[in-house]
Amino acid sequence: MSPAGPVLITGGSGFTGVHLARMLLDAGRPVRLLDVAVPAAERRFVLGADADALTEDMITASVDDWSAVLDAVRTTRPSAIVHIAAVVSPEVLARRPNLALQVNLGGTVNVLEGARMFDVARTVVFSSIGVLPTRQYEPIDVAHPLLLAGEGPNTGSMARRRSAPRPSATPTCSASGSTCGSCARRRSTAWA
Ligand SMILES: NC(=O)c1ccc[n+]([C@@H]2O[C@H](COP(=O)([O-])OP(=O)(O)OC[C@H]3O[C@@H](n4cnc5c(N)ncnc54)[C@H](O)[C@@H]3O)[C@@H](O)[C@H]2O)c1
Repeated sequence: MSPAGPVLITGGSGFTGVHLARMLLDAGRPVRLLDVAVPAAERRFVLGADADALTEDMITASVDDWSAVLDAVRTTRPSAIVHIAAVVSPEVLARRPNLALQVNLGGTVNVLEGARMFDVARTVVFSSIGVLPTRQYEPIDVAHPLLLAGEGPNTGSMARRRSAPRPSATPTCSASGSTCGSCARRRSTAWA
């Protein structure tokens, strides 16, 4: 582990990855991106003046390639790893479920194992937006109910949700400061 090493972001060219990279750079933390693809134009826009340097310096590798992941951690000696790389398209995953295993599961194991072998001090594994049921309130925070194992579409058990404290305040519309029609609808459907 190198305390001065960069934060290695897998999936660093993606939506979440570039925003995280931007935030870390703004906080003075060096960053390396690892991804199978370079950042697209709108992602480069988020990276701003650092887009060229980050793209030139990025590690082009797939997280399901164990030796490539190991090599990336060995050569980068990151202070932390943020693992965001994932195949997120439900349409792709429905057609190729083995890809979910290889990349989303196997890739995560590879990253964790690389971190373990090279004593990386901190590894953050992003959860999936797919763990959230229908939004109960906004902004979503850590108390928001999650779908648990055995729940979700096709399980017929959407009612079993992790309980979370009911918001104490009546939701109000940020525009009007009172309860608008949309807020009232949201309140009437929440916590059903
Ligand atoms: N977008 C959100 O609001 C949000 C919220 C919570 C969690 N998440 C989770 O974060 C993860 C990423 O979401 P996103 O919106 O940034 O998706 P995204 O598709 O924009 O980014 C994913 C990145 O991973 C890369 N990638 C795919 N397969 C790879 C592989 N084999 N090796 C290396 N890189 C690979 C892609 O090229 C892409 O750049 C997902 O698991 C998602 O569920 C997203």
